[in-house]
Amino acid sequence: MAYLNVEFIQNLIAEIQSSRINTSEELEVFRLKYLSKKGLIAQLFEDFKNVSGEKKKELGKPLNELKKLAEKIFDDAKNSIAAASLAENKGEDYTRPAGLLPVGSRHPVSQMIEEIVEIFSRIGFSVMDGPEIEDDWHNFTALNFPPEHPARDMQDTFFVTKNPDIALRTHTSNVQVRAMESMKPPIRILAPGRVYRNEAISARSHCFFHQIEGLYIDKKVSFADLKQTLLYFTESFFGKSNIRMRPSYFPFTEPSAEVDVYWGMNNEVDYRITKGTGWLEILGCGMVDPNVLKACGIDPEVYSGFAFGIGIERIAMNRYQIPDIRMLSENDMRFLKQF
Ligand code: DAH
Repeated sequence: MAYLNVEFIQNLIAEIQSSRINTSEELEVFRLKYLSKKGLIAQLFEDFKNVSGEKKKELGKPLNELKKLAEKIFDDAKNSIAAASLAENKGEDYTRPAGLLPVGSRHPVSQMIEEIVEIFSRIGFSVMDGPEIEDDWHNFTALNFPPEHPARDMQDTFFVTKNPDIALRTHTSNVQVRAMESMKPPIRILAPGRVYRNEAISARSHCFFHQIEGLYIDKKVSFADLKQTLLYFTESFFGKSNIRMRPSYFPFTEPSAEVDVYWGMNNEVDYRITKGTGWLEILGCGMVDPNVLKACGIDPEVYSGFAFGIGIERIAMNRYQIPDIRMLSENDMRFLKQF
């Protein structure tokens, strides 16, 4: 016990302080030597019990310091060895900021919808949503579809139930009805969304696709307003100001028209864009039929309006030269990554 004196303890402290622990083997050697049950420090504490009260006063403090220091050096070395070995094993820097999650890209259909909504929002249109599972009234009857209209046939429409007739909406025009039923003119809405038709699937048509519907109801809305609005749209969207309106038929508009944009023949090498005519059909439109206004509770003597419907896939296929409509819903990453 001769060694149990202040000088001895201080030498030990100096020794511990200068010890170099770089590996887990060295760490273990350190632990065995100083901190284990049979190690030096435990032994000193054992011996400490047997010294006189005088000596206890003298030795207690440095002995405790020695123990604390040894523990601290052990803990620090242990932590840094662990961190170093993690980094080494994985070859990674764990202080580096986390990688970005892959967020994908906007789908071309969404891109088209966003662009069209942005253009019409500049002239006061806002977006309205509507159900994709729709009753007969909102999809057909209020829109002036005669009872024998072929769209009401099972061949053309996916029915969820018959009698009462509930169907997957065949167009976004159902939102027109819901807008007029729930709002007071002036009404300026756009209704983008998915629609369904019981059609054979091919490169050009699918049993589900997207449309965007436009509706404007106010006092004194005329066909000139319709044409000017569509011209504004084709200029903004396609950069083309040469359009034509061909007479057409829709139950819910009178008169009705189909709108073509003049594309020119320069890109018409393979006859794909305009089938050799130079004109690209882009939408259907017309003046809202007075019967529709009446059905939706709007007085056709006071109000008039126009409506239009645009097929989104067709426009996306034209914009990006996508040869097959099915590519838009296959979710093939090689395709989607390009947008
Ligand atoms: N609903 C028509 C369709 O699915 C598109 C359409 C044409 C909508 C004329 C309209 C419109 O609002 O006025 O083919």
